[in-house]
Amino acid sequence: MGILIKGGTVVTALDQWVGDVRCDDGKITELGPDLAANSGDEVVDAASQYVFPGGIDPHVHMEMPFMGTVSSDDFETGTAAGVAGGTTSIIDFVIPGRGDDLMETLGVWHERADKAVSDYAFHMAVTWWGDDTAEHMRRCVQEEGIPSFKTFMAYRGAIGVDDIELIKIMNTARELGALTTVHAEHGDMVVDLQDKLFAEGKREPKHHALSRPAPLEGEATSRAIMLARMTREPLYVVHVTCQQAAHAITEARERGQNVIGETCPQYLLLDASVYEKPDFEGAAYVMSPPIRPLGHQEYLWAGLKAGTLQVVATDHCPFNQAGQKEMGRDDFRLIPNGAAGIQHRLSLMYTYGVLQDRLTLNEFVDVTSTRAAKIFGLYPRKGAIALGSDADLVVWDPAATGTISAATHHHRCDRNIFEGFETKGAPSTVIVNGRVQFQDGDLRVTKGAGRYLKRSL
Ligand code: URP
Ligand code: ZN
Ligand code: ZN
Repeated sequence: MGILIKGGTVVTALDQWVGDVRCDDGKITELGPDLAANSGDEVVDAASQYVFPGGIDPHVHMEMPFMGTVSSDDFETGTAAGVAGGTTSIIDFVIPGRGDDLMETLGVWHERADKAVSDYAFHMAVTWWGDDTAEHMRRCVQEEGIPSFKTFMAYRGAIGVDDIELIKIMNTARELGALTTVHAEHGDMVVDLQDKLFAEGKREPKHHALSRPAPLEGEATSRAIMLARMTREPLYVVHVTCQQAAHAITEARERGQNVIGETCPQYLLLDASVYEKPDFEGAAYVMSPPIRPLGHQEYLWAGLKAGTLQVVATDHCPFNQAGQKEMGRDDFRLIPNGAAGIQHRLSLMYTYGVLQDRLTLNEFVDVTSTRAAKIFGLYPRKGAIALGSDADLVVWDPAATGTISAATHHHRCDRNIFEGFETKGAPSTVIVNGRVQFQDGDLRVTKGAGRYLKRSL
């Protein structure tokens, strides 16, 4: 039995047309005006609605052990929340601890991800350098379908790497034709500032932000770009938050270096005043890098518009206030870093991007889906509405209105950092691999239906 989506305005990164989309056996099989339904077809009326390729979130952390706890969405609940918001594929990060075997850790992540309701891929984080690392990186690329590596310049003493390690990773990635991605913050300086603030008795969540100011992200971004230039390795900078980092990426791109920037809705839409919330509520916003003071956000929007920043991901990494964020009630350094976001990425970018004339509809599709597919080796299987592409589709009702709240979201988390944000536009139907998994507010996902996506660049 197929699905026929009738009469929608189909929007891809490149074009827009009114017509029908047919899916059979999990693939898009026909596109055009006035397609006739086959017997048994499920017909989805998309009149006055858009049809987008399913969203791709290339930066999420499901069930990730981190800072003495585990992110509170697992692969089932996290991908389900994604589907409810129109995201039909994710790329999660396999994160070995320092000294852990990359391939064994990959096995652990495969077990965890088995319950995903939609398709998933992995980046491999290289968190230390050992005798086997180069060979394990080769196996990731050539045997496991993982041609992208994650490095952390922050989190020193835990999963962070130093410059020598970063250079080795970049050199090896270049030899393998793989992409290095980087979390750019000056890790040592962060530790120094954290300890100074703590010693001065400054313990509240807002000191998390003060210990990680924007220049430290700018410096690390510039340094990573320089190391990538010297090693002739392309670079993808994750979660860009500030003017300094956006500027460094722009400069690099202008001189022809292959540097890609990713940002997230929280850095576009929130400012550092969130850390002033009373009663430890600022802890919900503790993430790294932190939310920036007012002013930076417009640079990020401009970077997105100009194509300097090419992807909007979420860095979905939820922790409950109760029992998790609370671990740092007396010491901001112990607040688990991260927040939920996967469900509302599309509605936020549509409401505050498209409807506020910061992005065209095509750009919206590009930054939330197509570019990630192209950059990370999933295109045109994902990120496209084309014959033979996977039938991951979002029927988008531009008239739907909503208010984001932890009381109603699908994240397994007791806070939502966009609490109270009004949205206009939401999925009415979400099709995942040729099956309707969300319709008119009804989420009917299937545990384990997601497939592992082997990628190649
Ligand atoms: O605070 C964050 N971003 N937590 C998740 C880990 C990371 O740095 O991406
Ligand atoms: Zn990070
Ligand atoms: Zn992250």
